[in-house]
Amino acid sequence: MNKTHINIIDNLADGNGLSKEEWMCLLTSLDFEERQYLHDKAVAVAKEHYGNGVFVRALIEISSYCKNNCYYCGIRCSNTNAQRYRLSKEEILNCCGVAASFGFNTFVLQGGEDPKQTPEWIVDVVKSIRDLYPDKAITLSVGECTEEAYKAFKDAGANRFLLRHETRNDAHYSHLHPSNMSAKNRRECLFTLKKLGFQTGSGMMIGSPGQTDEHLYEDIKFLEELNPHMIGIGPFVPASNTPFEKESRGSVEKTILMLSLLRLRFPKVLLPATTALATLCQDGMERAILAGANVVMPNVSPLEQRKKYSIYDNKKSTGAESAQQLSQLEQRLNAIGYHIDYTRGDYKY
Ligand code: 5AD
Repeated sequence: MNKTHINIIDNLADGNGLSKEEWMCLLTSLDFEERQYLHDKAVAVAKEHYGNGVFVRALIEISSYCKNNCYYCGIRCSNTNAQRYRLSKEEILNCCGVAASFGFNTFVLQGGEDPKQTPEWIVDVVKSIRDLYPDKAITLSVGECTEEAYKAFKDAGANRFLLRHETRNDAHYSHLHPSNMSAKNRRECLFTLKKLGFQTGSGMMIGSPGQTDEHLYEDIKFLEELNPHMIGIGPFVPASNTPFEKESRGSVEKTILMLSLLRLRFPKVLLPATTALATLCQDGMERAILAGANVVMPNVSPLEQRKKYSIYDNKKSTGAESAQQLSQLEQRLNAIGYHIDYTRGDYKY
């Protein structure tokens, strides 16, 4: 192993900031053994803060309608081949009921930016969940909204919000999104969410079209500025009937590398093993956890709708529609020395 490389990794693990050159070195130049060294350090840090538990979140995909037209995403509004559905409040409450009976303590409501699921409607849904489940965590992931709307969600009882920044580089953002979407607005939303007291999650795809290692460096710098409670990263997976359908997929190795770098830079961050990674790699979940991830988000959306939430091709789902599937998850975690942690899994301040 190269001494300089090991020194940089040790420095990062000790909580020291790194220079741009050092970050670029970690992003581009580690060999297999050095990566293993990095992953082991990241796992040690995750265990120091969160032990051998992996938090579970019940993921409910509430709508596949979206007014946005992101070039990478299968549910972009101009994809006429996409199958659309939206869940009613009753269906969402039903999903929560099933998830609660399995022992979940976090519900994640995620959807496209569906104009029919207005802020008022979302507030009503959140209030109803909060009334029924006073102690559970409610996470929203419904895109860019006004500060007033975010505040209303918070007042209704939502605790957390996920909104990936997608890329910090403005030119790259324009390469991934049509001109009516703004990287700046997205970043402002994230700072607003933090200010309002949400546990806030951001993140980006790895290997999205046009992404360079410099861009990943800029993403890390942005994350240092935002200091989010959660960071979601997964490889880019081409989606049919999108402008990027013929682009190549992101690298699994690079995703795993990034997970470890993020764990070391943000020791207490909640870091999911994402569905995109599991889609590209059978043992993606295990590899993510063994690189420092500590969250999984089993899908509890109604089975009839699940395949319609197709943001990319062959999307996997770690389902939890039966107790049996959760015990399979438990077994997979046990096999690598972990277990499901059913508690809320709030950020440890
Ligand atoms: N491949 C991987 N991730 C994707 N996302 C959207 N489309 C794709 C894709 N084709 C990610 C985006 C979004 C999150 C919900 O899913 O980062 O924020």
